[in-house]
Parts: sequence; structure tokens; C-alpha cells
Amino acid sequence: MEIRHLRYFVTVVEEQSFTKAAEKLFIAQPPLSRQIQNLEEELGLQLLQRGSRPVKTTEAGQFFYQYAKKMLANLEQMVAMTKRMTVTQDTLRIGFVGSLLFGMLPRIVYQFRQLHPTIHIEMIEIGTLGQIEALKQGKIDVGFGRLKISDSSIKRVLLRQEKLMVAVHAHHPLAAMKDTGLYLSDIVDELLLLYPTTPKPNFASHVLSIFSEYGLNPSNIREVREVQFALGMVASGEGVCIVPCNLDSVQLYNLIYIPLLDPEAISPIFIATRNLEENAYINSLIETIQYIYQTANIT
Ligand code: BEZ
Repeated sequence: MEIRHLRYFVTVVEEQSFTKAAEKLFIAQPPLSRQIQNLEEELGLQLLQRGSRPVKTTEAGQFFYQYAKKMLANLEQMVAMTKRMTVTQDTLRIGFVGSLLFGMLPRIVYQFRQLHPTIHIEMIEIGTLGQIEALKQGKIDVGFGRLKISDSSIKRVLLRQEKLMVAVHAHHPLAAMKDTGLYLSDIVDELLLLYPTTPKPNFASHVLSIFSEYGLNPSNIREVREVQFALGMVASGEGVCIVPCNLDSVQLYNLIYIPLLDPEAISPIFIATRNLEENAYINSLIETIQYIYQTANIT
């Protein structure tokens, strides 16, 4: 059995048609059917239900499909990572979600640069979901995100939970609660600016899931591209938005921040790496994060 047999079989199953699979694989249909037959003969059982249209797998075929798909994904990852090996010796590519730039990320990266002056660091803004694919394809070496997304080839570790707060205009009636704090139920009827507009799940879905944990359903929602736009709009007198506490470093005229008192109003920060990572700088980066947390009294 060769890798091409797996690729042919997976394509037929996914396209549910020999004709479409042959087109996708750039081969003629008769040799494709022969290759699948050879595979079935070698295994001594049927993988596809005879004469089914659209093409359907047998129970054994479904089992084989799941494994074949995983093997092809591993193979792709192995090639991407091996190709990157010469680069990773002196380069560290860091993927991060935009809001982390306003918190500890610049401090961590700056400190890391002092420790490793010769290493070339590339910082790439990319959503948590996109980081998973970018890690698998070798486009980044480490990702910092805010969502709990699981993938069998990615190692994810929770670094900390950051509290959330509400950004409102200084002349908004809610501004009176600046010192006491407020609850999500206090803003459920306000125009809520959500961000980013990257594919879901994203920070916007996280915020909505917190509302629904408290049985709340904000109905007046507008999605904006990035946190900076949301804050700019709030400062212009339009809507309110929810941001991680570190964003209080962003100061705009007439923009104030009010702590959220609901215990679930938090945003996790995760570090994600490939399971089989060999990049020696990643441990040093994690030590740098621990050092910065100690100096900032973060547990
Ligand atoms: C933090 O804010 O805790 C953080 C941000 C980016 C990378 C690591 C940690």
C-alpha cells in the first residue's frame, strides 16, 4: 500500500463520487477505480458500498477513512515542519491576537529580545483559530490566543485569566458606575460593539457566550473589525464594548473603563505550540513569560 492509495481513497470519500475525485486528482476515472479495487483486495474487504450513488463507505471503509485522513494530515505537517527546520534555528515566528499587543505581549517580546539578541523575531497578528492552521503549516512557531480550541497536533497551555471591563463614553449614564463596577445585565440593552470580524469562534463569540451563561441575550449588536475601532466608536458616543483589563492602557478622550463584576466575565490567555516542536527558543520564551508575570505580580 502506498500513500497515493490513501490520498485516492480519501478524495473519493470526500467527493462522494469517482468522477469528481478523478477530476480533483488529475487522473482518469478507470485507473482511479482500479487503485481503489487494489486497495480493497490488499485489505481483503470492501471499503465502499457497491453501486452506491453518491458513493458511501462501508463500516470498515469509514474506520479506514478516519485513520487515512489523520495520516495524510501528519504527513503534511511533517513536510512543512522539516522544510522549516533550517529557518527555525534563528527565527521565531509569534502569532498573536491583536488585543494582546495592548497588554503584556510587548514587554515579554522585548525582554526575550534582550536575552536572544541574534534571533530574528517575526510577529504576526492572527486570530486564535487561524493560529492552529498556521502552526500546523509551519507558518508560526508559537501562538498566543484567547480561545480554548483543541486540536490533536497542538499543545495548548492556559497562561492566565484576564478580567474583562466595559468601555463607555464619559457622558453615558453608566459612567456613574465607574468606581462601583457594573454587571452584564446593566448593559444588555445597550448597543454592544463586538469584534473582531474574523471567522468564528472568535472574541465576539466568547463575549456572547458569557452573556448566555447568565441567561442574557444582547439584541442590539454591531460587529466591527478590531478592538481599536470599537474603542474609537465608544469615544465618539456610539455604543459600549467589552475589553480585557489590559486595554486600560489605551486612553482616548472621553473614554472610560468600568470593571465587570460578574465572576465569569474573564478572558483566558493561552499559549499554543506544535506537539512535536523542536524549537529550543520556545522554552526560553515560556521562562520569559514567567519572569514578566513575577515582576508584574501576576500569579
Ligand atoms: C499576557 O498578557 O499575559 C500575555 C500576553 C501575550 C503573551 C503572553 C502573555
